[in-house]
Amino acid sequence: MTILRTIADVRAALTGPRDQRQTVGLVPTMGALHQGHRALVGRARAECDHVVVSLFVNPRQFDDAGDLAAYPRDEARDAALAVEAGADLLFAPAAQELYPPGFATTVCVRGPAEGLEGAHRGAAHFDGVATVVLKLLTIVGPDAAYFGQKDAQQLAVVRRLVEDLALPVRIEAVPTVREPDGLALSSRNVRLRPDDRPRALALARALEAAQAAVATGERDPGAVAAAGRQAMAAVQVEPEYLELVDPETFAPLAAIEGQALVAVAARVGGVRLIDNQILTSDGRPS
Ligand code: PAJ
Repeated sequence: MTILRTIADVRAALTGPRDQRQTVGLVPTMGALHQGHRALVGRARAECDHVVVSLFVNPRQFDDAGDLAAYPRDEARDAALAVEAGADLLFAPAAQELYPPGFATTVCVRGPAEGLEGAHRGAAHFDGVATVVLKLLTIVGPDAAYFGQKDAQQLAVVRRLVEDLALPVRIEAVPTVREPDGLALSSRNVRLRPDDRPRALALARALEAAQAAVATGERDPGAVAAAGRQAMAAVQVEPEYLELVDPETFAPLAAIEGQALVAVAARVGGVRLIDNQILTSDGRPS
C-alpha cells in the first residue's frame, strides 16, 4: 500500500488504474480506525478493483476545539489496519494540502443537515463534512464511496449532496458494526472511562426499546421516543436528543407509516456518543 500526501500524487497514482478501466472505491475516514472502518474498506475491496482510504482529521467539521485536540491520532496503526483490510492507497494529507491559504469555499447542504446533529453541533459541522467530502470525491473521482450507517445523518447529507450536484459516484451504506453488547464502535469509545462504559450502552438500549415499542404496534413517534428515553433514564443517561425521523430527509415524523429512523445522541462521562436504528413497521430492523 502506498501512502500519499498530495492531491497531485493521488491523481497521478490513479491514472494507471483508470487507463486499465479499473473501478476505484473511496473510503473517507478521520483515522483512529476500528472494525467499523474495516467493514467499509472490506466492502470497497469486495466491490472495487482499486481501494483508496483517506485519513484526514477535518478541522472544519469540529464544533468543539477540545474534541478536535483530543481526537485520537496514530497514523502508523491506521496504515497497518488499512493494509490489512485491503486498501491499495492511503491518502493522508496535511491540513494545508486540503485547505491552502486563501481557501474560501464552503459547501452548504440544507434539508437533511438541519435537525439533530446540525441543530446540536451547529450548521458548521455538516458544512465542514460536505466541503471535505466533495473535495475528496473530486480528488479521487471514485466509482463508489462508502459510508457507515452509524452516521446516518451524514449519510443522508452526502446522498443529498451527490444527487443535487449530479456527482458521478455511487454512495454505498454499510451497516453499523457493534461490540457484542451492542455498543456501536466509534473512535471516541477509547475515551470512555471504565466506570462509564456500562452507561454507554444506554444508547443501544434506547434503540432496542424504541424498536420493541414499534413491534408491539405503537405508531405514535412521541410514544416510541418516550420508550427510548425511559430505557436511558434507567441507567441515568440523559439524551441530547432522541427523535424519530425520515431516514432520507431527516424530517421529524408525525406518524410511523413507512420507514422510520430513531436517532439518539448523549454525553456519557464527557464523551459525546451517537447511534441510530432504522425501524420497519413490524419493528424488525431493515
Ligand atoms: P469517521 O468518524 O472516521 O468515520 C468514517 C466512516 O466510518 C464514516 O462513514 C462512518 O459512518 C463509518 N463508521 C464509523 N463507525 C462505524 C461503525 N461502528 N460501523 C460502521 N461504520 C462506521 O465520518 C467521518 O469520519 C468524517 O465525517 C468523514 C466522512 C471522513 C469526513 O471528514
